[in-house]
Amino acid sequence: MAREAVYQQSEPAVPGDLPPGDPPVVASASAEGPDDQERKLRPRRLDEMVGQRDVIERLKIAIDAATGRGEPLGHILFDGPPGLGKTTFATVIPAEMGTTVQMANGAGLSAPKDLLPYLTNVSEKSVLFIDEIHRVPKAVEEYLYTAMEDFRIDIVLGEGVNARTLNFELQPFTLIGATTRAGMLSAPLRDRFQIREHLGWYSDDQLCELVIRNAKKLAVEIDQPAAGEIARRSRRTPRLANNRLHWVRDYAQIKAKGSVTIGVARDSLDMIGIDKLGLDKQDRNYLETLIRVFGGGPSGLEAIAHTMNVSSDTLEDEVEPFLLRSELIVRTRRGRMATSKAFEHMKMPPPAV
Ligand SMILES: Nc1ncnc2c1ncn2[C@@H]1O[C@H](COP(=O)(O)OP(=O)(O)OP(=O)(O)O)[C@@H](O)[C@H]1O
Ligand SMILES: [Mg+2]
Repeated sequence: MAREAVYQQSEPAVPGDLPPGDPPVVASASAEGPDDQERKLRPRRLDEMVGQRDVIERLKIAIDAATGRGEPLGHILFDGPPGLGKTTFATVIPAEMGTTVQMANGAGLSAPKDLLPYLTNVSEKSVLFIDEIHRVPKAVEEYLYTAMEDFRIDIVLGEGVNARTLNFELQPFTLIGATTRAGMLSAPLRDRFQIREHLGWYSDDQLCELVIRNAKKLAVEIDQPAAGEIARRSRRTPRLANNRLHWVRDYAQIKAKGSVTIGVARDSLDMIGIDKLGLDKQDRNYLETLIRVFGGGPSGLEAIAHTMNVSSDTLEDEVEPFLLRSELIVRTRRGRMATSKAFEHMKMPPPAV
């Protein structure tokens, strides 16, 4: 894409996960945009966010202090599992500071030249957000070091004896990084973030509050027990709570005159295979295979994957984390084992000992 087109981009940034290779998008954080579902429910200010009270409190102090001094906010790194609010924080912070944000994705920054339009485009105290920052390759990462520390980039032109270094001064800015894999970040990059925040799981009460607030935004009539039911089946993750709420709304509109009671919430979520613990069909299929075919284990991952006819990567990345977290399976040296909670949940008798 031509550079001019990049800089003249007038659409507001769409907060969300940018596919690799997306061009820089500069946005006023308060700009109104198209009314898509994700946008509608994404909080715009810190006070609209639920949970993460301690993170929010620390950020407010840092924002107030930086604003008071007239300086940019220190660089911030958010890490944590998908759907817990990393991108949300990265869009809310610039809004709190009344500044603009550029959104980039680590997977799209494959060479140093990919980074340059973003860096040269930063304005004073603006925010550059790099999602999936663990995917930034080493050669690009090195440019970030001086950019973050000294607001400067050094570009080497030519080769050998003809090589010349050009120094570019950058406007003082804030880099916000987000990653689901903090362990993959190199120490030099990690240590250049002054603020590091880990986002953890939400409680059922916090998700219940989120469902009630968002039902209001979607103009859905819902009572507290129904909101609680959606929250309990959402794996302690705001993104899933929002997804479930959208489905329940559709179901209620067609089947229950638009009003969501606990019965409607249960029936609609049962219909798409989300059970009381928030497990979906694939999760239950995994447990059933482990229990029925392998007697509850121990069983190797490959054997389970072959029997289910899915890839072992899918099981390991998408299915097992929640089952482990819910204490439905354990990983031992001899393989995966179903716990007594899993037998009970699947209503299958534990093996005789
Ligand atoms: N604390 C919160 N309060 C209210 N809504 C939230 C909160 N955290 C997340 N959400 C909602 O959940 C959705 C998903 O959050 P977000 O996109 O920020 O997750 P993420 O951590 O960036 O996930 P990923 O790792 O997949 O990119 C948002 O659109 C937002 O509506
Ligand atoms: Mg994100």
